[in-house]
Amino acid sequence: MGRAVSDNAVSAALPRHIAITMDGNGRWAAARGLARPAGHKAGLGPVRLCVRECSRLGIEALTLFAFSSENWSRPAEEVASLMGLFLETIDREVNELERQAVRLRIIGNRQALSVRLQAQIAAAEQRTAGNTGLKLQVAVSYGGRWDIVQAARALAGQCASGALPLAAIDEARFAAALELGGLPDPDLLIRTGAERRISNFLLWNLAYAELYFSDRLWPDFDAEEFAAALAFFAGRERRFGHTGGQLGAPAPERSGAALKAAP
Ligand code: IPE
Ligand code: IPE
Ligand code: MG
Repeated sequence: MGRAVSDNAVSAALPRHIAITMDGNGRWAAARGLARPAGHKAGLGPVRLCVRECSRLGIEALTLFAFSSENWSRPAEEVASLMGLFLETIDREVNELERQAVRLRIIGNRQALSVRLQAQIAAAEQRTAGNTGLKLQVAVSYGGRWDIVQAARALAGQCASGALPLAAIDEARFAAALELGGLPDPDLLIRTGAERRISNFLLWNLAYAELYFSDRLWPDFDAEEFAAALAFFAGRERRFGHTGGQLGAPAPERSGAALKAAP
């Protein structure tokens, strides 16, 4: 770990937005006879690596799944240790994020977090809000279904107050009300930890993401594996519902809005 991704291994076709489900910390710790929190702590190294590499490659956005709505059901000690780790980490890392011109945002149900953590998040977001480098989103207490419901509720409220006509609700307006509103959809989802499922991550936004499943446990995710994910992405033909033939055809022969709307 720590070695920069070889640019040769990365094709010109870089994703604009990468989402990562950082899974496998508990198993990593168990395999070493350690308690699960040691695995979560060890997961910070790959987080730093991904932020650094995305910044260096000029990738626009990185969204990391750190704690799901369902993770509240874990044993109280594990939840407490994760919340402690978020507190410590935000405080400690914000200077480095500043240095790299990263804009940090936390997505998820922040009302479920402690008042202290909420305040710390607000301060870190405020401090980095003007940064023009990588847009880093960390999903904490986040669920894809929660996100869709909160967007629906916000739009319904605007309709009920008369501020928004019902007919004005379309896909673009709905997407704007989601936590990732304003960002392009993730082009690439990486999930470590050998599971091949979504686990309630960005249900709306992943509609056309390429999916890269890694058997590495998150603390073992390194520059080589990141490069492998980018190489996988570069090799995909993204059709957005069109035929392969249409993609090769000159622009006027392509029909339909989907391709034009493709990122
Ligand atoms: C991912 O690792 C981190 C969180 C969900 C908070 P896990 O803690 O799920 O690790 P495994 O899947 O049990 O190994
Ligand atoms: C997904 O991992 C959530 C995060 C990585 C934060 P989980 O470990 O919670 O997912 P499941 O329970 O195996 O589906
Ligand atoms: Mg897991």
